[in-house]
Amino acid sequence: MPDSSSKYSSSKLWGGRFSEQTAASVEAFTASIHFDARLYRHDITGSMAHAKMLARQGLITGEERDQIIKGLDSIGKEIESGAFVFRPELEDIHMNIEKALIEKIGPAGEKLHTARSRNDQISLDIRLYLREETYRITDLLTGLQKSFVRTARKYLGAIMPGYTHLQRAQPVLVSHHMLAYYEMFGRDKERLFDCLKRINIMPLGSAALAGTGLPVDRDFVARELDFPAITANSMDKVGDRDFAVEFVSACTLIQIHLSRLSEELVLWSSDEFSFVNLADSYCTGSSIMPQKKNPDIPELIRGKSGRVTGNLISLITMLKGLPLTYNRDLQEDKEPIFDTADTVSHSLAIMAELLDNLEFNLEILQNRVKTGFMTATDLADYLVLKQIPFRKAHSIVGRAVAHCLDNGKDLSELTLDELKGFSSVIEDDIFSLLTVKGSVDSRQSAGGTSIKSVKQALSEAEKILELKP
Ligand code: ARG
Repeated sequence: MPDSSSKYSSSKLWGGRFSEQTAASVEAFTASIHFDARLYRHDITGSMAHAKMLARQGLITGEERDQIIKGLDSIGKEIESGAFVFRPELEDIHMNIEKALIEKIGPAGEKLHTARSRNDQISLDIRLYLREETYRITDLLTGLQKSFVRTARKYLGAIMPGYTHLQRAQPVLVSHHMLAYYEMFGRDKERLFDCLKRINIMPLGSAALAGTGLPVDRDFVARELDFPAITANSMDKVGDRDFAVEFVSACTLIQIHLSRLSEELVLWSSDEFSFVNLADSYCTGSSIMPQKKNPDIPELIRGKSGRVTGNLISLITMLKGLPLTYNRDLQEDKEPIFDTADTVSHSLAIMAELLDNLEFNLEILQNRVKTGFMTATDLADYLVLKQIPFRKAHSIVGRAVAHCLDNGKDLSELTLDELKGFSSVIEDDIFSLLTVKGSVDSRQSAGGTSIKSVKQALSEAEKILELKP
């Protein structure tokens, strides 16, 4: 005979087989409510769909379903208003809500957890959460792309030094530089949408690990919650956090991209570069040096790439060595996931604002492209078109540059006679090419920096983003 005497006295929802109360230290150590409470909406949405399914399948009555849904709805409102008291001794969001439901509606509440385990429940909650975050972050990425495209349109025609090794290399359009970031953040969007395919699969019905013997309708739950498919293997699914690793990994790359951009803004806003002015309202001062205007926003964004990368390492390391199926280690997934989504969202939003309030110093840019022999490759290409092999052309131009350095001149300042001294094939059609504008205009290869190629890229981007030129 099963013993239903008071020897089994734990007050937990799972307390039936326990004869002692949980130690307070264990409650404190195992509780996740202080961070998973933010999944309350997703948990309630999932439970409502589950209750509807249970009623359809005759596992609960229609009346019980209605009581459950009404109860969950009012719990949701209490949580939203701040009136709900979360209890750490109830461990997590699932049991806090379930216990509150039972206290509110009585026996019908005790039927909600039929054919379900917290193991498939948490998988569902994270998926619902990440689905929302994916749409939110891709929208923010689109917003940032719009800022780049607007800036590219605003400065169309302006030329700046392009760098390799952070050494002045070849002149490029400011707009070309801006559209490079448009591309980069476009890939980030693609990656998130791709990962959404793995997030967007409905796990409920996997139960603890082996599925359930009760007659559930998983497809109905999937339809209710707008999932295009249900997960295939119950054992795989309750222990699977690959989709979360993919999400955090895609976000890490976003933060790394933001960090590279930040580095440029920090450099560009320095006195040494003076390429851009960041708006006063987006900078801060120094408490000791009155002259300072610091680029704290890009610096912090760059700094936050450390914590996001750390989150990825935490998450993926947490999975290492876990046997199938659910293990409590998996509870450690949530903080890195939440922190990543928050950090990346905040960084994307503020970066877009910063860009919208940024001014390029056109005069300085114009001066900077005049020096540094940035048209040297153009001279070499000119020689190539006159049938001189590129390696030979490279060395001829190298000698011309050395000559300029010795004489304090730029390539465009050499006379035709001087130039002919390096190669007799040079004629006076060379001079238009040795200007920075000539150099930029000549780069008409698809994806290059010529005004023609950039205008085309810009129009395409504006069309995709539905921006008016
Ligand atoms: N709080 C748990 C987590 O985040 C929920 C699932 C717990 N399942 C269990 N059998 N203890 O993973």
